[in-house]
Amino acid sequence: MNPNLKSRRAFIKQSTLCLTALSASRVLGANEKIRIASIGLGGQGTGNAGRMAKVPGVEVVMLCDPDTAQLEKVKKLFPNAATTQDLRKVMEDKSIDAVVVSTCNHWHVLAAIWAMQAGKDVYVEKPVSHNIWEGRKLVEAARKYGRICQGGTQQRSDPMQDEIKAYFDAGTLGKIKYVRCNHYSMRKTIGKRVMPLTPPPSVNYDLWLGPAADEQLFREKFHYDWHWDWNTGNGEMGNWGPHILDDLRNVVFRDKVKLPKRVIAGGGRFAWNDAGETPNTHFAYMDTGDIPVIVDFHNLPRMKGVNAPDVYLRRRTGAFLIVECENGYYTGSRGGGSVFDAEGKKVHTFKGDGGKSHAANFIAAIRSRKPSDLKAEVEDIHLSSAWCHLANISYRLGQKYVREQAESAVKDFQPWNDVIGDFHEHLKRNELDDSTLDIKIGPMLEIDATKETFTGATATSEALSLLTREYRKGYEVPQQV
Ligand SMILES: NC(=O)c1ccc[n+]([C@@H]2O[C@H](COP(=O)([O-])OP(=O)(O)OC[C@H]3O[C@@H](n4cnc5c(N)ncnc54)[C@H](O)[C@@H]3O)[C@@H](O)[C@H]2O)c1
Repeated sequence: MNPNLKSRRAFIKQSTLCLTALSASRVLGANEKIRIASIGLGGQGTGNAGRMAKVPGVEVVMLCDPDTAQLEKVKKLFPNAATTQDLRKVMEDKSIDAVVVSTCNHWHVLAAIWAMQAGKDVYVEKPVSHNIWEGRKLVEAARKYGRICQGGTQQRSDPMQDEIKAYFDAGTLGKIKYVRCNHYSMRKTIGKRVMPLTPPPSVNYDLWLGPAADEQLFREKFHYDWHWDWNTGNGEMGNWGPHILDDLRNVVFRDKVKLPKRVIAGGGRFAWNDAGETPNTHFAYMDTGDIPVIVDFHNLPRMKGVNAPDVYLRRRTGAFLIVECENGYYTGSRGGGSVFDAEGKKVHTFKGDGGKSHAANFIAAIRSRKPSDLKAEVEDIHLSSAWCHLANISYRLGQKYVREQAESAVKDFQPWNDVIGDFHEHLKRNELDDSTLDIKIGPMLEIDATKETFTGATATSEALSLLTREYRKGYEVPQQV
């Protein structure tokens, strides 16, 4: 076929699709109410619906969850809202302007793409994707259908983040040497049943599963603990990671580093012997080609028998982000941050608001129709989510850990030896014998940031397969959005 004709046809097809999406969406008057559907009504979905409803000019008109028990619970808070178990009913309703997707991770992208194809704007929880490939499809859909799409990393709306940037720019701390991202929180075993778990009778399980594989579940609890199963979740790296690494990409890298050039990760799931697959102790090194990054997550207690999470030994605060500089360091989390000078004296503090204006920022962008008004525009949050997926992929490809080999994977960078040392210390304090544990260390993955894929010797078929997933029939994320 004449290539011009082919591209013209493609253009007409694309324009028609865009027009379809536009005609499906209402043209909003300046003072008109924005009608929202809340998809996924667990802890976060309930909170998100409440936060949206508080924004002036917003009405939550539809609630959606395959679990009727969740629907009934949240309906009490929004008695005038319609309810449905099936998100396709939300997509069909032309009176709905925007959706909030707070489902389990495996549904985020497909729900968001369906909504954008139906002409709706989208607020989608973190991680915005369950894998890197579909995250890019999400961005493509936002562009193709001209939709407003905000990621659920609310700290981007916290004015504190700009204050921290300004502090770094003022230069008092000097050059940044490296960054350490920590999350130490205690979690517990999710159990290991002998007989598979039967989903609660209130759940339409086909709708709950959506794109995920229909596998037997051996955990005790149906909701929330899907996080620790690769089929539906992304572990702690994909749970707290998207917040912390998004702070890192925003505050330190100013969104200029799309993806790291190389990533290696190790760790394991220790002590619990349960049905979970994801690591409860996970450390990673990320070579950004610029400032190096260490990531370290612990879910076991500070020490065996103590009911408190681990602490970062060389730093006093329960920090997420520790930015080590020539003349001191910044350390902070969602609530606030502090700057310490080279002598360890606190010289400055920042107070955070937890990103409480994030919902209002989404609504303002819906009215302005400018994606650039969004604090957490989907492409940035896709990339931040991808950093976490990369650390998970290295771990999932992991081989038997040998300390010397792991240490020598990153040369001449003491913080890497430190994080490995902290890992062994953490195991020891939990009275775990590291010589008998199933510890994994992954390959140093090389990443082509433009193509969002692996390159070099580590671009094996196994590694490449983890950039995406097998989608269950009828719930495929489309190749062409
Ligand atoms: N931004 C934040 O600070 C923050 C905080 C907590 C959770 N989250 C994110 O929010 C999401 C939900 O977390 P949670 O703690 O509420 O989990 P949860 O398990 O309590 O709730 C998930 C809900 O989604 C529902 N669901 C599953 N498939 C669905 C479908 N097809 N249509 C509609 N609903 C569906 C489930 O039935 C369940 O009610 C996760 O992705 C999590 O990472 C974000």
